[in-house]
Amino acid sequence: MILNVLALPGDGIGVEVTREAVRVLQHVAAKWNHQLNLSEGLLGGIAIHKTGTPFPEETARLAASADATIMGAVGLPEFDNAPPEKRPEKGLLGIRAALGVYANLRPVRAYASQIESSPLKNHLVEGVDMIIVRELTGGIYYGTPRGISGEGAETRAVNTMTYTRSEIERVARMAFQLAGPRRKKVTSVDKSNVLENSQLWRRTVTELSREFPDIELDHMLVDNCAMQLVLNPKRFDIVLTENMFGDILSDEGAVIAGSIGMLPSASIGAQRPSGAWVGLYEPVHGSAPDIAGQNKANPLGAIGSVAAMLAYSFRLKEEAAAVETAIEAVLESGQVTADLRPTGAPATTEQVGRAVCAAIG
Ligand code: IPM
Ligand code: MG
Repeated sequence: MILNVLALPGDGIGVEVTREAVRVLQHVAAKWNHQLNLSEGLLGGIAIHKTGTPFPEETARLAASADATIMGAVGLPEFDNAPPEKRPEKGLLGIRAALGVYANLRPVRAYASQIESSPLKNHLVEGVDMIIVRELTGGIYYGTPRGISGEGAETRAVNTMTYTRSEIERVARMAFQLAGPRRKKVTSVDKSNVLENSQLWRRTVTELSREFPDIELDHMLVDNCAMQLVLNPKRFDIVLTENMFGDILSDEGAVIAGSIGMLPSASIGAQRPSGAWVGLYEPVHGSAPDIAGQNKANPLGAIGSVAAMLAYSFRLKEEAAAVETAIEAVLESGQVTADLRPTGAPATTEQVGRAVCAAIG
């Protein structure tokens, strides 16, 4: 198979974790005789520095012509006080919108070998296996009107949380479909006791659920969900929620997995006639400027995102499973980065990447 993949390392540790993700992808391509055509582009802070904009047109062009895109992370401290329009993050929001990747799948798993890395008690974490399905191209991240106006004490800032029924339906459909081969349970998370937006969300999800009679649906308010995720995480199978709630809740998932460096994600949009999904694959973690360039960052979230790419954008189930099994083997071997608090000396980013390739064989 021909794999046309765009890599966007971005900023901070994005560069080093993407290098390992690409190493694993190249290894898989060589082992299974796929032809990997890899291109590289600019996104985020590095793109602002080199081109003046966080999402250059050239990157949009490269992403549109690739089968799938792997991304590192964006964000640099020198932009901390910049307005949203001029920040690296704007590049990420731009590419998500340009690719139309409306469903962000964020699996949260407790690996048996890493149970001690989580600050939660073992009996709470053991066996956790959920996917947070986060709506990714709508809601308050993109809603208008937005902006800051006025002066002095009357300065006012506005953001708008907005969804249409069709935006809710397509991501909810994805959630119900994902639940089918799993534990058949969708928990839809909203704030319908306060927000009209959430009332439409809840109504739409409930109506759609009639198409999926074998899937159990329950609804949970987002504040309660934040609590249940640490009180009883095993109760969740698929968590379906809007953009900002999903952003917040998925970082909480990191506490279960032991480190945010562990979490992969797949952002998917349209399905091609072949059945392959248009996808952007990004670890959940940020650019972590404090440890950037030190070969310390955990690349397993990025490498897990490669597994998701193989599964969703190339329908290469065997290759995807091999990467996942290799991640588990590396975790069990104890060759892990410092964030997972290994008993021996921590491995470097590169050592973990090479260990995953070795485990694939
Ligand atoms: C994430 C990140 C991004 C988001 C930022 C970097 C814009 O936190 O992917 O979770 O909020 O979506
Ligand atoms: Mg986030």
